[in-house]
Amino acid sequence: MNKAKKFHVETFGCQMNVNDSEKVAGLLLADGHERAAGPDDADFVFINTCAVREKASEKLFHAVGRLARAKQERGLVIGVGGCVAQLSGRAILDRAPQVDLLVGTHTVARVPELLRTAGAGAAPVVDLDRTADTFSIPAEAVAHSSAVRAYVTVIEGCNHVCSFCVVPRTRGPEVCRDASDVVDEVASLVERGYPEVMLLGQTVNAYLRDGVDFAGLLERVSAVRGLRRLRFTTSHPEHVDARLAEAMGSLPKVCPYLHLPVQSGSDRILADMRRGYTAAEYRDKAALLRAHVPNLALTSDIIVGYPGEDEAAFEETAALVDAIGFDGLFVFTYSPRPGTTAVRLADDVPQDEKLRRLKVLNDRQQRFQGRRNAERVGRTEEVLVDTVGERGRVSGRTPDFRIVHFDGGAADLGRLVPVRTDASGPNSLSGRRLDIPVAAASPAPIF
Ligand code: SAH
Ligand code: F3S
Repeated sequence: MNKAKKFHVETFGCQMNVNDSEKVAGLLLADGHERAAGPDDADFVFINTCAVREKASEKLFHAVGRLARAKQERGLVIGVGGCVAQLSGRAILDRAPQVDLLVGTHTVARVPELLRTAGAGAAPVVDLDRTADTFSIPAEAVAHSSAVRAYVTVIEGCNHVCSFCVVPRTRGPEVCRDASDVVDEVASLVERGYPEVMLLGQTVNAYLRDGVDFAGLLERVSAVRGLRRLRFTTSHPEHVDARLAEAMGSLPKVCPYLHLPVQSGSDRILADMRRGYTAAEYRDKAALLRAHVPNLALTSDIIVGYPGEDEAAFEETAALVDAIGFDGLFVFTYSPRPGTTAVRLADDVPQDEKLRRLKVLNDRQQRFQGRRNAERVGRTEEVLVDTVGERGRVSGRTPDFRIVHFDGGAADLGRLVPVRTDASGPNSLSGRRLDIPVAAASPAPIF
């Protein structure tokens, strides 16, 4: 496929995948291709895959299945990249022979080049090179999907060995990006009008390069003039220390929000998972953070039905969730993944029991969030508008990542608006905008 073509990118999985897709889209645009309105209008569809759970992994094959007819009828070229591609490699071509182009997690930048020889009956083009440098893409080439919050990957891969997790196999060991490159990219984003940046890594707070640790990186990025809000995800409890808590508490642009997966509240299961902390140690880290960061919102991930999780272990998880009082919770049923150490253990919790535990936690969490959000009604929140909805409504996030809806329009996108809340639900608040200068409500200095 060597002429300029219309492309469509479909993304599954985490923010890191979203950021990789933004890189693919940006590089295709730079190469003279243009965005299609959707898959039906595209000459090339790129599917960026997630391998973290079996269900996510299977989405690739459903997506290819949906495109098979377009390939037959109008020569659609199909590309597959990301974690499933890296994990399963050429085996994907046996199950999905319609795939023309296969790249791994490190070779997304090569998509435009590889696309030149892909399709039109040619043999599939495969590049799963794990040694390619994923950070070498120029900042301007990333086609960010949001006009408000820009993702910046600062650390690739993961050095942890959680028994259930496929990520170290799909994304390899940790590689940290040079701190000044990160700062330069953030400065260029701010110049292009982005008020908020989210630093990304599978274990972003493990960042360490040339003597700069993660707290040091936050300090440097915070110093970028004009940046309004700084967030980061995902953090691992092991790398939460006083330095990070102090940095979060003292740097005004760093939002009081932390996603800190705990996975389980049972010490036996945590040890089996090789998470590297006990439930009490996790509680201590949460307390340390809360002591330094006023009004910190903490969110977490939980896996239910891990091998050997009996009722008592599950109850310990429920008790930990109650004790911490998370502001958001993502509960997953355990899914055995190829290449992990846990795959050798019997998957001994029946599926309906996994689903029951998931529902128990989700229901409790929804009730808790409902109460917590109701307590905030009547307050003034600083909302950074990121979504323009229908019928004159907009929504955005507070510094602690709560969603707030109110009346507004396209001109509000990217603006910090003070909103007095008057209603709430478990997942969001709503209210009316206030007619006061934004600077007065802003936690970040305005330059
Ligand atoms: N550090 C990563 C974690 C990636 S996986 C990040 O950036 O979020 C995201 C979440 O999926 C994990 O925290 C875990 O709760 C869940 N998960 C990972 N492997 C899983 C598996 N095999 N089965 C069920 N859930 C899993
Ligand atoms: Fe996965 Fe554990 Fe790393 S959940 S991404 S191996 S910290």
